[in-house]
Amino acid sequence: MASWTALKICFLLFVCVIMSGSASTQQLSGQDYYARRCPKALETITAVVKSAVASEARMGASLLRLHFHDCFVNGCDASVLLDDTANFTGEKTAFPNANSLRGFDVIDTIKSKVEKLCPGIVSCADILAVVARDSVVELGGWGWQVQLGRRDSTTASLSAANTNLPAPTLNLSGLITSFSNKGFTAQEMVALSGSHTIGQARCVTFRARLYNENDISSSFATSLKVSCPSSGGNNNLSSLDVTSPTSFDNAYFSNLVNQKGLLHSDQQLFSGGSTNAQVTAYSKNVGWFRNDFAKAMVKMGGLSPLTGSSGQIRTNCRRIN
Ligand code: HEM
Ligand SMILES: *[C@@H]1O[C@H](CO)[C@@H](O)[C@H](O)[C@H]1NC(C)=O
Ligand SMILES: *[C@@H]1O[C@H](CO)[C@@H](O)[C@H](O)[C@H]1NC(C)=O
Ligand SMILES: *[C@@H]1O[C@H](CO)[C@@H](O)[C@H](O)[C@H]1NC(C)=O
Repeated sequence: MASWTALKICFLLFVCVIMSGSASTQQLSGQDYYARRCPKALETITAVVKSAVASEARMGASLLRLHFHDCFVNGCDASVLLDDTANFTGEKTAFPNANSLRGFDVIDTIKSKVEKLCPGIVSCADILAVVARDSVVELGGWGWQVQLGRRDSTTASLSAANTNLPAPTLNLSGLITSFSNKGFTAQEMVALSGSHTIGQARCVTFRARLYNENDISSSFATSLKVSCPSSGGNNNLSSLDVTSPTSFDNAYFSNLVNQKGLLHSDQQLFSGGSTNAQVTAYSKNVGWFRNDFAKAMVKMGGLSPLTGSSGQIRTNCRRIN
């Protein structure tokens, strides 16, 4: 009897150990993940981001976007960084990425510095997560605790990049569906869209809004048409936040209230639908936006990471080892 009880306890302990083991292989670790593995990793990343953003403020926006385009396509695994080769097709030529994503050189600079410090330790996927946070902080936003411990993929998916990243032509229900496919609520989608308080977009992504839509401020449309004519100038850039394009603030939401969203998808968040009240609330209270944004970014950073023995730590973020 005593030995039977002992056996049951032993069995339960065994199950618990196995379960905690498998749970930890799917979960990320805290921000101290590299504290002993590569103590200077985070400060090295931050220093490169600081200098890149100091020489060009927009780079902070471009770096933030890289993490989003990584995570929404088969998880935060640095698949977005892989270059195409003769026998490998990556994600860089996908419609949302081609002629649009930037910042790859900054990631290369960071990677070569951390490889010198601690070869084979710091993943490209973790670099993207830290860089996204540091970019927001550099542009005046608040930081958050970044979860770490991701590993890098040995694959990429052009088709997933084409289907999983939301298009600027989507309406509100399309945006809600796109984010819900990744496990996000409509509220989290609105918070994450606040990323468009920094950075720029090409004329080709918002032209139809200037010439075909009514829910746009006429003075705003008129000024945008100068650099975004009805034909030509596809690559001419305008700020996503017309008010304060290099400050991570809540002006994006005030702009929406004033019908000054640049993209069709931006203005959809304040077009009389279910997200109107949240946009108004964020426009009035930057603290609410920043808190919700931070939480949603941590959640986004947790999308299907590779951990344990899955994937690899790439030596060069542009190619598999
Ligand atoms: C809600 C759905 C979203 C749509 C439809 C969308 C679409 C776009 C488009 C079309 C551009 C301009 C690209 C170009 O012209 O080359 C852009 C830029 C940008 N997006 Fe989004 N986006 C969305 C959500 C997000 C999220 C969730 C983030 C970050 C967490 C983000 C971060 C950015 C940033 C920072 C830029 C500016 C990049 C730069 O200046 O280099 N976007 N987005
Ligand atoms: C792709 O080609 C390179 C040489 O260009 C080779 O080293 C690599 O093994 C090839 N990869 C595959 C998956 O065939
Ligand atoms: C949103 O777009 C989808 C697909 O284009 C369309 O079927 C739907 O009717 C649109 N919804 C609204 C409310 O306009
Ligand atoms: C691009 O924008 C500039 C002004 O920023 C404008 O002078 C130029 O004409 C635009 N390109 C085209 C093709 O319209």
